Amino acid sequence: MHQPDEKRYDKMKYNRCGKSGVKLPAISLGLWQNFGGVDMLENSRAMARHAFDLGITHFDLANNYGPPPGSAEESMGCILKNDLRGYRDELIISSKAGYGMWPGPYGDWGSRKFLVASLDQSLKRMGLDYVDIFYHHRPDPETPLEETMGALYDIVHSGKALYAGVSNYPADLTKKAEAIMKSMGMHILIHQPKYSMFERWVEDGLLKELRDNGIGCIVFSPLAQGLLTDKYLEGIPADSRAAKPTGFLRPEQVTNEKIVKVRKLNDMAKGREQKLAQMALAWVLRHEEVTSAVIGASKVDQIDDAVKALENVSFTDEELKKIDGILGGR
Ligand SMILES: NC(=O)c1ccc[n+]([C@@H]2O[C@H](COP(=O)([O-])OP(=O)(O)OC[C@H]3O[C@@H](n4cnc5c(N)ncnc54)[C@H](OP(=O)(O)O)[C@@H]3O)[C@@H](O)[C@H]2O)c1
Repeated sequence: MHQPDEKRYDKMKYNRCGKSGVKLPAISLGLWQNFGGVDMLENSRAMARHAFDLGITHFDLANNYGPPPGSAEESMGCILKNDLRGYRDELIISSKAGYGMWPGPYGDWGSRKFLVASLDQSLKRMGLDYVDIFYHHRPDPETPLEETMGALYDIVHSGKALYAGVSNYPADLTKKAEAIMKSMGMHILIHQPKYSMFERWVEDGLLKELRDNGIGCIVFSPLAQGLLTDKYLEGIPADSRAAKPTGFLRPEQVTNEKIVKVRKLNDMAKGREQKLAQMALAWVLRHEEVTSAVIGASKVDQIDDAVKALENVSFTDEELKKIDGILGGR
């Protein structure tokens, strides 16, 4: 069994999640990629152990993470059994349901039938009695919101999850979802939207909605899947997500237009004595509404890079304007 670093809580910053009682590490680790059945389990285990040693107490999963779907939760089960046994109460483990998991009409979207069955499967795969946070992964245009929120409410009251969250919900739907929860005497703990220098939709109303309602925010793909690092400056390396057959970043998404911006951002990061990955993480964390940035990693040292971002998370107005200029193509 792993003996975690005794100093693991000394450096990490823990932010309160909205108006709740729970705090999350400013950097969390997501298991979407590189923890599946197609990946090297020893590398996945090493990354999870190292993250915990650095004070990363939050591991983010979903029913469909892999590939194949479900296998990242199985890897997490193995990590919890072999490496982090005895530390369950120091961890925040999340899972989600909302994307297709099994054939037929009950294996996708947002019905009570799907959410309850999917969480039961996730708990079995991870060998857990409960998850800390259970999310509805994406809006369902057909299921009444009352049904989806009612299912999350009942899941929390059954003890299979401690808190409920939503992911990829636009601002107006988040407002409605929270109103339904409130009418039942509960709150949405957290929202998980995509947010990075290349994907800024949350600035257009969602962050305000979350602040007004005391809901926390954990932003995903803060490095735009690796684009906002020094990785693609000279092309697509063989050991990158864009080169992997199972990676979600496709080579055609690594466009010249983006790389021109990335080069300028990289120069700017150097001026701040940071790596670009660190400046990109500091940039999403600059909002007080953002509780945590959930990163992905394929190597242990990428997790070190991310945590070091916390050494400089402040920006001058001039720097922020310069970043806006670069992103705007100026
Ligand atoms: N709710 C949702 O719908 C949703 C959707 C997507 C993701 N998520 C969550 O967000 C988590 C993170 O997503 P993501 O993996 O796309 O996040 P990301 O942090 O934007 O990208 C992570 C990838 O960037 C590269 N990288 C990271 N640090 C680096 C460094 N210092 N230098 C060079 N390259 C570096 C690595 O890719 P290489 O393989 O190229 O090394 C790494 O796997 C997921 O695991 C999941 O938990 C949620």
